[in-house]
Amino acid sequence: MRSRRPPDRCGAGRDMRAAWILTVITLITAQTAEGSPLVLEPEVFLEKYGYLHQDNHIHNAAEIQSAVCEFQWLSRLPVTGELDGATLRQMSEPRCGVSDEGSQEIWAQRVNAIFTGRRRPHRRRRSSALQVEKWYKRHLTYQIVNWPRHLSLGSVRLAVRTAFQLWSNVSGLVFQETPEGPADIRLAFYEGDHNDGAGNAFDGPGGTLAHAFLPRRGEAHFDRAERWTLNGHKGHNLFMVTAHEIGHTLGLEHSPVRHALMSPYYRKLGRSLVLSWDDIIAVQQLYGKPSGDRPVRLPGQVLHAALQEWEFRELHNGHETYRAASLLPGCI
Ligand SMILES: *[C@@H]1O[C@H](CO)[C@@H](O)[C@H](O)[C@H]1NC(C)=O
Repeated sequence: MRSRRPPDRCGAGRDMRAAWILTVITLITAQTAEGSPLVLEPEVFLEKYGYLHQDNHIHNAAEIQSAVCEFQWLSRLPVTGELDGATLRQMSEPRCGVSDEGSQEIWAQRVNAIFTGRRRPHRRRRSSALQVEKWYKRHLTYQIVNWPRHLSLGSVRLAVRTAFQLWSNVSGLVFQETPEGPADIRLAFYEGDHNDGAGNAFDGPGGTLAHAFLPRRGEAHFDRAERWTLNGHKGHNLFMVTAHEIGHTLGLEHSPVRHALMSPYYRKLGRSLVLSWDDIIAVQQLYGKPSGDRPVRLPGQVLHAALQEWEFRELHNGHETYRAASLLPGCI
């Protein structure tokens, strides 16, 4: 297990346990009264996302405070170590199910590499626990294993293809869909417990939206109970979440940068660029720059318009598209 030093901004602890328990009770009552999904208890949340180690262990106030500090730092909240309203609200935001453990250190190394001019984060410690895992080839295949409700095959394919393109356009990677047979990266929709361990079971609408494995396992799983969309009025945008999870399958960890796609929290497809400087540096440190032309980055606005236009066309000749799609091998 990785261990990190807590940021020293947070001094050693006052006993905040009583206040903390009270807030938890208030929060749970508030949530159930509104009928929204029950949020995880802060301690369970901090264990699940890698801020507290040793599960089922009674953590003392200092441990909890330093875990809260790290959580606040990665979530860009004021680092106070206190479980205040904003911190608890942040814990209930829809997010990626991948742990945040090690993200802070890897980010620090990435930024350091920019200034020292090293292409890849260099590790002085002998521990290999923080070794960045990556693919050793540049051509990767992917496969959509099964499909969500409410979206046509064509829309899912488009969202996935565009999400892979986002990364290949700014790196030395090339992706190709392979409808059947072995594939490097497999994308699948599952509900609840799906054999990734009880702690990684999906939790219904909201909360954890998806998770993925670092190289070279090549799997991204999406919560089938979410309402997946491409136009983003209701539900969660499949393109944005897929693009984030692909980042993990390539070896990227969570980013503390506000507009980074690799931030742990769900972001709508907005007007701004989907990939931030931090996402691009992270992928290029692993796989280099795209060959030939300069990196191509489309603003969110353009992608949004393209996806909507495609969905609109789908609605109008849906039958043909469905028939055409089901003629392809491996997609029933
Ligand atoms: C990737 O770049 C190509 C041009 O080389 C462009 O047509 C495409 O829209 C870009 N895709 C994304 C997702 O940025």
